[in-house]
Amino acid sequence: MARNVCLNMIGCCMVAMIFIIGATEATDYTVGDSLGWNVPNNKSFYTDWASTKEFFVNDTLLFNWTGNHTVRIDSEATYYDNCNTSEIGIQFRSSFRYTIVGAGHHYFVCTVGNHCERGQKFSINVESPPASAAPTLSFGFLSAPFLSTFALYIFSPPPLNYFLM
Ligand SMILES: *[C@@H]1O[C@H](CO)[C@@H](O)[C@H](O)[C@H]1NC(C)=O
Ligand SMILES: *[C@@H]1O[C@H](CO)[C@@H](O)[C@H](O)[C@H]1NC(C)=O
Repeated sequence: MARNVCLNMIGCCMVAMIFIIGATEATDYTVGDSLGWNVPNNKSFYTDWASTKEFFVNDTLLFNWTGNHTVRIDSEATYYDNCNTSEIGIQFRSSFRYTIVGAGHHYFVCTVGNHCERGQKFSINVESPPASAAPTLSFGFLSAPFLSTFALYIFSPPPLNYFLM
């Protein structure tokens, strides 16, 4: 029976580990994928890129570029909407990785020349940290067949020869 208890504990630890991995994993995005952070051919390129993703606190956005670009990050749409490139907000003048620290709207624009007008801009709406939503989310991801397999593994007694060995 000692082995059985031990197996149960391993099973429980595995459940706990899956739970923790699911709860803390942040996603690293490369903005624009292979285009990087550049003036796009298509004005909606970055908007389209962002619209296919769901962003959470602690996710990171890697801005990679060559040439003359900046990133300005705002929490208000005012300067973003009409591409007002006055020197406001935060500017970075080299490639960098931005870690999303708070929920809510984030607006990203390049402030160089008319790059913003030409589509070098996008906004995201960041959701609260997944950690708080993890209990329901994580269990939602575990499909019923997977759970029942797990239950079988954890709760079925080991085969008889296990004890005879
Ligand atoms: C851009 O923003 C600056 C700073 O707030 C403001 O003075 C200026 O009038 C704005 N320009 C336009 C075109 O909205
Ligand atoms: C980059 O563009 C800005 C205009 O937004 C200009 O003032 C600056 O001189 C440019 N820098 C380089 C290295 O071309």
